[in-house]
Amino acid sequence: MTVQIIRSAAIIGAGYMGGGIAQSLAAAGMRVTLADVSPEATQRALERLLAEARAFEDQGLIVPGSHERIMSNLTTASSIEDAVRDVDFIEEAVFEREDVKKEVLGRISAAARPDAIIGTNTSTIPVHVLAPMVSGQERFLTVHFSNPAPFIPGVELVSGTATKPEVVTTVREMLARVNRQSAEVADRPTFVLNRLQYVLFKEANTIIEEGIATPEDVDTIVRSTFGFRLPFFGPFAIADMAGLDVYVNGFVTAENAFGARLSCPETVKRLVSEGKHGVKNGAGYYGSYSREEAEELVAYRNRAYAKMAELLRELGPSPLEKKKRKTGK
Ligand SMILES: NC(=O)c1ccc[n+]([C@@H]2O[C@H](COP(=O)([O-])OP(=O)(O)OC[C@H]3O[C@@H](n4cnc5c(N)ncnc54)[C@H](O)[C@@H]3O)[C@@H](O)[C@H]2O)c1
Repeated sequence: MTVQIIRSAAIIGAGYMGGGIAQSLAAAGMRVTLADVSPEATQRALERLLAEARAFEDQGLIVPGSHERIMSNLTTASSIEDAVRDVDFIEEAVFEREDVKKEVLGRISAAARPDAIIGTNTSTIPVHVLAPMVSGQERFLTVHFSNPAPFIPGVELVSGTATKPEVVTTVREMLARVNRQSAEVADRPTFVLNRLQYVLFKEANTIIEEGIATPEDVDTIVRSTFGFRLPFFGPFAIADMAGLDVYVNGFVTAENAFGARLSCPETVKRLVSEGKHGVKNGAGYYGSYSREEAEELVAYRNRAYAKMAELLRELGPSPLEKKKRKTGK
């Protein structure tokens, strides 16, 4: 049986992501051990992470006392084996190379306690590719934090065919304790986050390559229009609020211009044919909306967007936005 409550962790690979994950878990009160390629590299990483945590706290970016908690909870080990030997949870965060991950996961699972849960922070490699290297595949899953790990709340979870459901439950409980939101997705290459991100990025590149807009103008449009909504609502909630019938009509133009690649999705067509047009007529992707629910949603949306505009005014333009203004792009 695997652990029920995760109180201690080892992070293998103390680079950009592993370091941020270690800071987050240690700040939340977990005992965390780090290991990288050599004791010297691990020690350097620890010093960098402590200095960074102090700077975050001085700048008011993390709650007061976090630096102290990270200092007392975060330690180093001289090898992968020493780091993982007596912890409840191990997160592998080494280079995104199948061969390196396989070797490291083999070593981790050979040295870890049989009840320890093992996660990988891979951004793209499916669980079924890495799992054969793990002894005790039922305790292995992807626990995909986002960059920068100390600040981004979402974590993608991916189970393999052998992963036990209770392992996912235990990891989700730990993530909730460290103020993370988790979502479970199926074991397909690139998962959900990067699949969506890559499609957007690829299309954005096609747009600049076709001379339709500059990279700077594409970025302005993304962040100030539909991207402005994304901290609060995903594409399905946005579609429900926009009106699914509006999408069906919009896709006619898109398909005429770009072919089947941008034809209307079957699910949208089906919902509209069933008379479900979204919030405006009481049914859509999120099931049915009562009048009260619809009013509450619109009021929340308006408050959220007004607050977002206020936050952006308070922060001022990003350095890239200032650069754009300076160069007149
Ligand atoms: N950078 C991102 O934006 C991002 C976002 C999400 C997930 N990820 C994933 O997180 C993982 C780590 O990425 P990163 O950006 O932190 O990379 P990174 O290069 O900053 O860190 C990788 C660390 O792993 C260490 N390492 C390499 N081989 C090792 C070994 N055999 N034993 C022990 N340590 C070893 C390296 O020394 C380095 O410190 C990758 O799987 C990556 O795809 C990255």
